Amino acid sequence: MMHKDDVKKILLTEEQIQTRMKELGAQITKDYQGKNLLVIGLLKGAAWTVTDLTRYIDLPLRVEFMVASSYGNSTETSGSVKIHLDVHDDLRGKDVLLVDDIVDSGITFGAIVKILQQNHPNSVKTLAFCDKAERRVNGFECDYVGFKIPDEFVVGYGLDYAGDYRNLPFIGVLKSSVYAKAK
Ligand code: IMP
Ligand code: MG
Repeated sequence: MMHKDDVKKILLTEEQIQTRMKELGAQITKDYQGKNLLVIGLLKGAAWTVTDLTRYIDLPLRVEFMVASSYGNSTETSGSVKIHLDVHDDLRGKDVLLVDDIVDSGITFGAIVKILQQNHPNSVKTLAFCDKAERRVNGFECDYVGFKIPDEFVVGYGLDYAGDYRNLPFIGVLKSSVYAKAK
């Protein structure tokens, strides 16, 4: 049974996360004045960021979600990105803000930004709740980052390990015994 007792260290508290979401929401409110904002979240992990963040954006906007996979149940990327659920909206004239829970290798964002650009949006920017910058393989840079974090596998606030722990309201690092059990 997954539980918060499986967490050995809290990296970001619920309060730190909510404070940062408010800051990002205020920044985006400034940056998107007069634009046609469409927030696109990558399910499932970005759902927590999208719902909190959009509450702090004081502008008319729309929300869509996409499903893409690269990881499966492992903690390492497989290198290719597959889209399972696409956006149905026409992107012409839209200012797209693509949101994910974390940017790691950069492969997911790199691939999806390319696909979105084929639909002729007015602009595409990216927001990652967490950024493991030192793990990047393609030089991808996000326009908005919640928190830069070290190269450690984290869970909570949408981030999962094999599907579990997404609902933790903080970001934590799991005890090594959790991985040992899974083998
Ligand atoms: P990228 O394509 O390597 O940038 O990986 C992005 C995806 O990897 C995220 O959407 C997560 O699903 C997954 N991921 C990367 N690091 C972590 C982590 O520390 N915890 C949970 N999921 C992670
Ligand atoms: Mg993901």
